Amino acid sequence: MSTSDAAHSEVLDRILTLELARVTERAAVAAARLRGRGDEMSADQAAVDAMRRELNCLPIDGTVVIGEGERDEAPMLYIGETVGTGQGPAVDIALDPLEGTTICAKNLPNSLAVIALAPKGGLLNAPDSYMDKIAIGPGYPSGVVDLDAPVAENIQALAKAKGVPVGEITACVLDRPRHARLIENLRATGVSVRLIGDGDVAGIIHATDPDETGIDIYMGIGGAPEGVLAAAALRCIGGQMQGRLVITRDEQVDRAYKMGITDIKRKYTMEEMATGDVLFAATGVTDGNFLQGVRFGRDAVTTHTVVMRSTTGTVRYIKARHTQVEKFHLD
Ligand code: FBP
Repeated sequence: MSTSDAAHSEVLDRILTLELARVTERAAVAAARLRGRGDEMSADQAAVDAMRRELNCLPIDGTVVIGEGERDEAPMLYIGETVGTGQGPAVDIALDPLEGTTICAKNLPNSLAVIALAPKGGLLNAPDSYMDKIAIGPGYPSGVVDLDAPVAENIQALAKAKGVPVGEITACVLDRPRHARLIENLRATGVSVRLIGDGDVAGIIHATDPDETGIDIYMGIGGAPEGVLAAAALRCIGGQMQGRLVITRDEQVDRAYKMGITDIKRKYTMEEMATGDVLFAATGVTDGNFLQGVRFGRDAVTTHTVVMRSTTGTVRYIKARHTQVEKFHLD
């Protein structure tokens, strides 16, 4: 790449970071119109349609690597779908137009519209399986916690590194029967366990700002695609995360191999899940700890979005007041 090409690409990347806000804003507003209606599928579909429409306006040659599913099961934003105008940088995209479909349907906290972009090959092509995850925020020595260490060891090391008693640490875990043992082990250490019903992308991001959210560490098994999205966010905000695929069915093994994963037991670092210059954006659908949900006013729709970039580490919060409300009726 010539110097002027590199400079052009740099400007484009900077513009793209902000443009991404439009993509998640649009998806969030579409989903928010249907929040609290008990209809997960309609809210998800509305978010997918809106995100796809906006994504196709971006000056990128994009490929969805984490999306709504395989081509035969998802008509839109499927894995391998090309998006964008086709003019611009070649990028891989991980997206979840509505992360937390159930919490949106129940209008509970922390459902988000989420997207991450990386240079081609920069995002782990995770199959639609589970992933075992551990994540903490920035400011700790590298390797202070480890996916393979016993629960008590991780918690004691974290408390020591934070300089607080174990009793002042809060661990966030998805409230699932599969976590009964993990929760028991955590409580045995003396930590407080915050159980969440859904939405582990938000759960992991919350661990990066304990002063604001009260969460110090995220642990447990959630979706693998959500793991890659969360890793992209942490690459930008800082923090540490590890993940390992949890593959239980034969067809998931086949899928993983098809996606280029040769070692299904591999422990991935955050940098291995999201590599290079990563861009990330999320807009709140329902109210949450770090982003408010969409507000429908008399004359305007208000959205709250965070956009971030790993190369610069810039984290921008954008509160947008959209007065051309009719534009959103397209969704
Ligand atoms: P959806 O948006 O697909 O409903 O996912 C919500 C979620 O809670 C994720 O945040 C999490 O990774 C995953 O589901 C956990 O899966 P499961 O509900 O099967 O335990």
